[in-house]
Amino acid sequence: MGLFTATGYFLIVLVTVRANSLESGSRIIGGVNYGIEKIPYQLSLEKSGKHICGATILGEKRAITAAHCTFGIPASELKVRVGSNQIQNGGQLIQVSNCSQHPNFDNITLENDISILLLENSIKMNKTIKAIDPNWKDAIKVNTTVLTSGWDGNILHALNLSIIDRDTCQKYFTMVRLTNNKICATSNDTKNGPCEDDSGSALVLNNKLIGITSWTKCNSTNFPTIFTNVQNYEDFIKIYSNGVFKMSLSNIAYFICILHIIFNSFN
Ligand SMILES: *[C@@H]1O[C@H](CO)[C@@H](O)[C@H](O)[C@H]1NC(C)=O
Ligand SMILES: *[C@@H]1O[C@H](CO)[C@@H](O)[C@H](O)[C@H]1NC(C)=O
Ligand SMILES: *[C@@H]1O[C@H](CO)[C@@H](O)[C@H](O)[C@H]1NC(C)=O
Ligand SMILES: *[C@@H]1O[C@H](CO)[C@@H](O)[C@H](O)[C@H]1NC(C)=O
Ligand SMILES: *[C@@H]1O[C@H](CO)[C@@H](O)[C@H](O)[C@H]1NC(C)=O
Ligand SMILES: *[C@@H]1O[C@H](CO)[C@@H](O)[C@H](O)[C@H]1NC(C)=O
Ligand SMILES: *[C@@H]1O[C@H](CO)[C@@H](O)[C@H](O)[C@H]1NC(C)=O
Repeated sequence: MGLFTATGYFLIVLVTVRANSLESGSRIIGGVNYGIEKIPYQLSLEKSGKHICGATILGEKRAITAAHCTFGIPASELKVRVGSNQIQNGGQLIQVSNCSQHPNFDNITLENDISILLLENSIKMNKTIKAIDPNWKDAIKVNTTVLTSGWDGNILHALNLSIIDRDTCQKYFTMVRLTNNKICATSNDTKNGPCEDDSGSALVLNNKLIGITSWTKCNSTNFPTIFTNVQNYEDFIKIYSNGVFKMSLSNIAYFICILHIIFNSFN
């Protein structure tokens, strides 16, 4: 109970929680003005008409966001706005028909902070509206420059961050153990970084998705942001974004191994 309270308190202070209203929400600090045509995969997740989080277009009927953005909210209350520079205005507004929150999402530690949204109607893609593929391949190395994004009021911003190692990052998040399911990135020695309204937005390496904004302490010098490590959720993403289970190499290896064991047991 003691730990729960302490962790709960810690989360209230640090986590990029869902904003209840635009007025009270805090937005990305720093970065440069970026039009939607430069980050055409960016979308805004709205609950009952209010921006609560960012999200990312994966396909015509699929988007990805943080599980803490969809936690406890029926899909019927959620819409996504694609192809707009403005918050709560412009672009296409599409009803969410289903949220597949990660089954092991932990609302205290924010482990497995990932959720796939199924959309009622297809997104009409154009120059300002494009899907982004997850980056399954590139190694995520310390000091690599990565791009994140979010709205500063009505202006879309993009911000370069640098990957930092988990041990350094852990020093800032003393009450939760950071696993390989998280990526840490920082703006080095500035206060720049995402803030609560940016939860669910993308972290991008080589024009492909590597992370989902999960939590941080806003407006605090040097403080890193934690992103969900998309590469660790390949099976989850493939199941829910294709609707069909596609076997990954590791699954194939697993089945070959099982068959091998079964075969040997008959010899
Ligand atoms: C793309 O679609 C959006 C939303 O329907 C629209 O606002 C925008 O003008 C379109 N852009 C182009 C380049 O056609
Ligand atoms: C809808 O979401 C639930 C989990 O909330 C999941 O079990 C189900 O497979 C999803 N359906 C589709 C079509 O994605
Ligand atoms: C968070 O999860 C715990 C246990 O997993 C549960 O008891 C609690 O009700 C959840 N919090 C909310 C706000 O649903
Ligand atoms: C990252 O950059 C810092 C500062 O320049 C340097 O001290 C450190 O050795 C670099 N780490 C790696 C793994 O390249
Ligand atoms: C990020 O850094 C690259 C150079 O590494 C630069 O070309 C690009 O404009 C920067 N992007 C932002 C949003 O500052
Ligand atoms: C952070 O510092 C490293 C090492 O000096 C540098 O390579 C990197 O470009 C910096 N990152 C940002 C986002 O300014
Ligand atoms: C960041 O904090 C400083 C005080 O430390 C405050 O003056 C400033 O308005 C804050 N910026 C944002 C964007 O919240």
